[in-house]
Amino acid sequence: MNDDIETQNIELQLLLQAIYVKYGYDFRNYAKASIKRRVQHRLVKEGLDTVSAMQHKLLYDVSFFERLLLDLSINVTEMFRDPSFYLALRKSVVAKLKQHPFLKIWHAGCSTGEEVYSTAILLKEEGLYDRTQIYATDMNEIVLKQAKDGIFNISKLKQYTANYQKAGGLESFSNYYMAHYDHVVMDKSLKKNILFSDHNLATDSVFGEMNLIMCRNVLIYFNRDLQNRVLQLFYDSLCGDGFLCLGSKESIRFSDHTDTFEDVVREERIYRRTG
Ligand SMILES: C[S@@+](CC[C@H](N)C(=O)[O-])C[C@H]1O[C@@H](n2cnc3c(N)ncnc32)[C@H](O)[C@@H]1O
Repeated sequence: MNDDIETQNIELQLLLQAIYVKYGYDFRNYAKASIKRRVQHRLVKEGLDTVSAMQHKLLYDVSFFERLLLDLSINVTEMFRDPSFYLALRKSVVAKLKQHPFLKIWHAGCSTGEEVYSTAILLKEEGLYDRTQIYATDMNEIVLKQAKDGIFNISKLKQYTANYQKAGGLESFSNYYMAHYDHVVMDKSLKKNILFSDHNLATDSVFGEMNLIMCRNVLIYFNRDLQNRVLQLFYDSLCGDGFLCLGSKESIRFSDHTDTFEDVVREERIYRRTG
């Protein structure tokens, strides 16, 4: 291997180790290419020359770490992201969920909450919301606070409305928020059964007896070992016939869990625990 590249890889490993030891966030098993890009982005933004110089700043400046954390925990999301996924959820999962008197749903890596409010709307329209407890978790407390507030920029509403319609929405999307001049506030009734909390998939443990876990567009940032750890965590957190939903570029195929989950809607990455 080229000497410079090897040295840069060592610097990066040491940086991730320092983040873990000093702040408790474990990025050591994230996909290297994406971590490298994010670190490089922060390096340029801060006008630093090397990752070792970044290491020093990281150890002595908490606000620098907070900026880096936001870079590393890519938070892109939207309401009814991949509308065909929500349509499949309505058509192929809801009827099974209706068989339960009480439901527990976990949104892992919920970011700023758009996905959680989408599920809350779907459950409401299907008459399931009142018997459901939703746990919405993320490792990043800043995005979690935004999720809890349920306030979104109005500029995105046109696209969210289109997504909602394509996802099989039964009402007018405007029934679910109050518009103020540059933002919208999601209806309070959607938050009633949502518990937002801090949870790190790399280091924390199970959430018990879930009927449905949605963890979409999160595993893509992890390496194979961490993906397997998290899939085991989901397996252990699901009840016997619970559902697992992943993002469109993620799959349980090629993981250690090909036999412990079966396809429900393969193309939408909806799986079910096999016993
Ligand atoms: C790209 S967003 C996906 C948001 C949403 N699930 C969606 O599909 O639109 C990825 C989220 O995963 C969170 N995340 C990354 N690593 C995590 C970890 N180890 N534990 C919990 N959340 C994590 C990030 O903070 C970020 O909010």
